[in-house]
Amino acid sequence: MSDSASRVLLPWRQESFPIDWSAEFAREAALHLEIGFGDGRFTLRRALEHPKDAFVGLEISSASLQRGWKKLKRNGLSNVRLIKLGAQFAVQHLFAPDSLSSIVVNFPDPWPKEKHEKNRLLQDSFFKLAASRLKAGGSINLATDHPDYLAFAREQSQLSGLYDLLEPPPPQAVFETKYALKWKGQGKPLYYQLFRYNGAPTPEYPILERPATMPHALIQGQLPETIEFSKQVLAYANGHVILHEVLKSIGSDDEAPSQDKWLFRATIDEEDLKQQILVVVKRRSADELIVRLEPFGDPVITKTTRGAVHAVTEWLLSLPAGIRVLERNY
Ligand SMILES: C[S@@+](CC[C@H](N)C(=O)[O-])C[C@H]1O[C@@H](n2cnc3c(N)ncnc32)[C@H](O)[C@@H]1O
Repeated sequence: MSDSASRVLLPWRQESFPIDWSAEFAREAALHLEIGFGDGRFTLRRALEHPKDAFVGLEISSASLQRGWKKLKRNGLSNVRLIKLGAQFAVQHLFAPDSLSSIVVNFPDPWPKEKHEKNRLLQDSFFKLAASRLKAGGSINLATDHPDYLAFAREQSQLSGLYDLLEPPPPQAVFETKYALKWKGQGKPLYYQLFRYNGAPTPEYPILERPATMPHALIQGQLPETIEFSKQVLAYANGHVILHEVLKSIGSDDEAPSQDKWLFRATIDEEDLKQQILVVVKRRSADELIVRLEPFGDPVITKTTRGAVHAVTEWLLSLPAGIRVLERNY
């Protein structure tokens, strides 16, 4: 078995999208996704009970990821991958249409206040996206202690006409997760609901392509010796680019003289993905500079990420240095 066929933690940023799961697991297998696996005890039991199936777990909490990772690694399982990533982005870009047999959501954050309902995972927009990745007959399996959340999810699932509601008895492990035991201990009733995708056509959700070259701009002129910089925030595409600071490179592993190499540290803030990135400005020839997204950290090139190159280019144009743009390639 190759290394990649036995790893538990998946470095998803290095993959092309959608991920080729049969190559990842080195076999064809029914593919199941779990969103918010917490400490991973359900993930572990399910993977042990169904060794022929393949399981992918998503978490946004680093502490949970670490707990889940240790648990699964200790058990030497080869049919599970864990990913630190939010559900919206992962479902859209990491999974091909018609690829998932089930999506498990055990005890999702309930967001009980009305003004926070928009943060709930199981709402119309997510049901539609999920259906586009589920196989016909595949299901979203919800466990919750929260009657309002259950009613909300049921109602939202019916808006698209893509789901049938089923109430089978829950597998035992579902009501023995960390949170299930916590709520049971407090005497709360627990609920289990299946939303079965009926196979009707869904909207199309495009998958991000990983471009071969990094977005960049070519500019002409000289970088000034001294500059003043303050934080810049730019709304771009569906998100924001925040330029935090400029760092002048001292000693460089490439041919650009260090005074001609600046790094901009930026945050790309989009609804379903937040990234820390670097944009470099460096000399290419006597008169030409390149502004380019750095590959450092394997950034995912979204529209807003491209906006970081735009933000830096525009900021350079605002300097009293006579810089002009030769080419925008972002
Ligand atoms: C209430 S806990 C339940 C954990 C576990 N399923 C259990 O039953 O013990 C909800 C979990 O969902 C994770 N989570 C919340 N939103 C998420 C998202 N958009 N994508 C992935 N995980 C998410 C949280 O970090 C948290 O660990």
